[in-house]
Amino acid sequence: MTHNNTWRNAMQSAYGHQTPPAASELTSVEPGSPMGELLRRYWQPVCTSDELTDRPRKEKLLCEEIVLFRDGAGKVGALQPHCSHRGTSLEWGRVEDRGLRCCFHGWLYDTDGRCLEMPCETEEFRERMNVWQPAYPTLEFGGLVFIYMGPPGTEPIFPIYDIIDQNVVGEVELRGMRLWGDQGIGYVKDCNWLQHYENVVDPWHLIMLHQVISGNQGHNMLEGLTAGTMARDMAKIDFEKTPLGVRFNMVRELPNGNYFIRHAECILPNAFLVPAVYDSGARKTRATELSWTVPVDNEHVRGISIVAWPLEGGVPKADWRPGTDISDAVRPGAALERSYEERQRKPDDREAQEGQRTTAVHALENLGTSDTGVVLLRRMLRDQLKRLEQGLDPLNVVRDKDAARGIPTGTWNAVLTSDEAAALGPNVGRLA
Ligand code: FES
Ligand SMILES: [Fe+2]
Repeated sequence: MTHNNTWRNAMQSAYGHQTPPAASELTSVEPGSPMGELLRRYWQPVCTSDELTDRPRKEKLLCEEIVLFRDGAGKVGALQPHCSHRGTSLEWGRVEDRGLRCCFHGWLYDTDGRCLEMPCETEEFRERMNVWQPAYPTLEFGGLVFIYMGPPGTEPIFPIYDIIDQNVVGEVELRGMRLWGDQGIGYVKDCNWLQHYENVVDPWHLIMLHQVISGNQGHNMLEGLTAGTMARDMAKIDFEKTPLGVRFNMVRELPNGNYFIRHAECILPNAFLVPAVYDSGARKTRATELSWTVPVDNEHVRGISIVAWPLEGGVPKADWRPGTDISDAVRPGAALERSYEERQRKPDDREAQEGQRTTAVHALENLGTSDTGVVLLRRMLRDQLKRLEQGLDPLNVVRDKDAARGIPTGTWNAVLTSDEAAALGPNVGRLA
């Protein structure tokens, strides 16, 4: 092939190249920002239930610091950190039966933030004062603590998706877990939440990053893929909107003639389902955990999950592991301390996503057909911003109790025989 097209030959000089600011509409999450307000219309997971011990716990999410504690009655409080008296951080306070006591002068706050005691004050002063520490509503479900950071009175019902509804999936124990420690899936941490979330609907990176570039990382369904230049021929992938968000459909013919089908799904605005990365070869295996991409602030992200742990004879199966638990040697990035060279030779999600800049600059991207999932996701997120602007409930805000249980999701691995696949025709990925 000759290279005589001048437009191909003209080098684009990096000299003086300007980087536009990252568009903030979808990425910024501080109070008052469009996406920050959208995310505040949902119950957001802040820590696991068992992380609330006899000490307060400071967390940061959506650019806000919160101090959490559990009182003697078991109720969880989520307070703004700085004491209404003279501002000391309540993270240094003492958890008591009736609430959290500031370490400095002993003001005691209950889980609603009401100041119950001012031990250094006169009776007269106390009677005059009606002090409330700013607080957020909380709830616990599936071993996680959630807070609602939106306008008072707009709290939705907590939605229970099928994979964590025992009426649907049967005998399981729901466990709140940080499968990736204090990071997000793939041990991503130091970047904007959106590029991490987009990764859920970017199946092409499974083939390139996790197979061709860095070697097999436990994705059985991708075994045998090595020729990176032919990635587009290695699987048939398409994308679709679902009632909850966006999912991909990946279809791959296996060496034995069977067909492997995989879906992963973004449940807007920041929850997701990824089925097991270690496929069991079973005919159909649903995702086993519901996870959230939680923005800590605009430059950091973490993940947290409700795992539906299967029971055997009434007790949690001992030799089982959650489908996205990659804390073993197979995944290079699972070793948190890696040399620069090792990270270059076997990059993982962390290198790829943090490498997109702290916040990816959408204006500089060249999105292709393989990015359809990302495009759909951004479009749907923008649609939700519009709904909020118009005073409407965004997608997945549930207000009807009956509609809040067993909500169908669309995420699983499946294996079909060639006959079964043929019977479903060209849309096999959508139908299986
Ligand atoms: S600063 Fe908290 S009681 Fe004085
Ligand atoms: Fe990945």
